[in-house]
Amino acid sequence: MAGLFEPIEINGMVLKNRSVRSATWTGMAERDGRCSERLVAFMEELARGDVGLMITGFAYVLPNGQALPGQLGIYDDALIPALSELTKRIHDAGGKICMQIVHAGAQTVLRETPERPVWGPSAVYNEVFRKTPKAMTQADIRETVLAFARAAARVRQAGFDAVQFHGAHGYLVSQFLSPSTNKRTDKYGGPIENRARFLFEIYRAVRKTVGNDFPVLIKLNAKDFVRGGLAAKDALFVAKGLDEMGIDAIEISGGGPSSGDLGPARTKIKKLADEAYFSPLAAKIKKQVRVPVILVGGIRSFKTAESILNSGTADMISMARSFVREPGLIKRWKEGDLKKATCISCNGCFRAAGSPDGLHCVVERRLSEKKDE
Ligand SMILES: Cc1cc2nc3c(=O)[nH]c(=O)nc-3n(C[C@H](O)[C@H](O)[C@H](O)COP(=O)(O)O)c2cc1C
Ligand code: SF4
Repeated sequence: MAGLFEPIEINGMVLKNRSVRSATWTGMAERDGRCSERLVAFMEELARGDVGLMITGFAYVLPNGQALPGQLGIYDDALIPALSELTKRIHDAGGKICMQIVHAGAQTVLRETPERPVWGPSAVYNEVFRKTPKAMTQADIRETVLAFARAAARVRQAGFDAVQFHGAHGYLVSQFLSPSTNKRTDKYGGPIENRARFLFEIYRAVRKTVGNDFPVLIKLNAKDFVRGGLAAKDALFVAKGLDEMGIDAIEISGGGPSSGDLGPARTKIKKLADEAYFSPLAAKIKKQVRVPVILVGGIRSFKTAESILNSGTADMISMARSFVREPGLIKRWKEGDLKKATCISCNGCFRAAGSPDGLHCVVERRLSEKKDE
């Protein structure tokens, strides 16, 4: 079985090791979603830290698909030049970069306006975001599928190495998959075969525009951890379907803002046993698909990373918060310092990403401010 520092190829994309920087919103994009110099510099530091594949923060495919301020956009050709600068600089630094694309659906903090209606599969009130989306018409669904495809074409044009569409964490694709938010009675609602239709249409449309020779990935919930949400057996159906259709890798996550303590970015990761909390679910999916599986969620130590790979639970390991505190973590491990990541999983970085300074580790900053005193 492969170790962390063994290379892997995903549909022609050769990665120097099996680590992934999972998609992370930085709050550093311009108001219109354009990539900024600050964001490029932030990503360059990650590339220098030897991570195998870095995935950008989620980028919205339509103006009404934006979730948070300072989020990257990919809804217009005018956004391509700044992204081309990003990919060029990452490649110059020896890195590989994938863009994550999303529609937020009802999970948005932005105010609803007539030009920016809040969409969802059904008009089900979202208690966390305090929004009731408008149930999408067939035309809205067609427009969104097309928007994902056009966004993916821009991703390729901007020089990214791969595209990942967001099918996790309660965003629009997740909202269609979940019986708790999808109450439709047409061909997009009801049994999982119907609830997965929107996602499968997006996959097919994306594949058609980018071609067979460009890596297409998905981040998928293995379970929603909300009452009446996506069940593990239905997530397995989706993973198997995508595998048969030719997806190039599946990143397994779980939960979302409505899952309380059982969300994607859990706290209180202290012992080895607290790490990699989606492992059992990922292992089940991995057994039933041929495509590479990437596991995210609470991985903090080299030992856990290696055991996930050696046991065949997943083909790659993915981390987000560990890299916020230590962009050079993989390099550190590679150079022989195998101490676990210093991130204490406090989730202070969510708040930081929404601050004027953008994403940073609040613990690390407090420590360095103390040192300067
Ligand atoms: C500040 C912050 C921003 C995030 N932004 C995204 C995002 O844009 N897309 C996504 O799929 N997940 C996002 N996540 C979730 C992470 O990718 C990851 O799934 C989660 O944090 C668990 O992994 P970890 O324990 O290694 O942090 C974000 C997490 C944090 C802390
Ligand atoms: S603020 Fe720092 S220590 Fe806390 S979760 Fe984020 S990266 Fe980890």
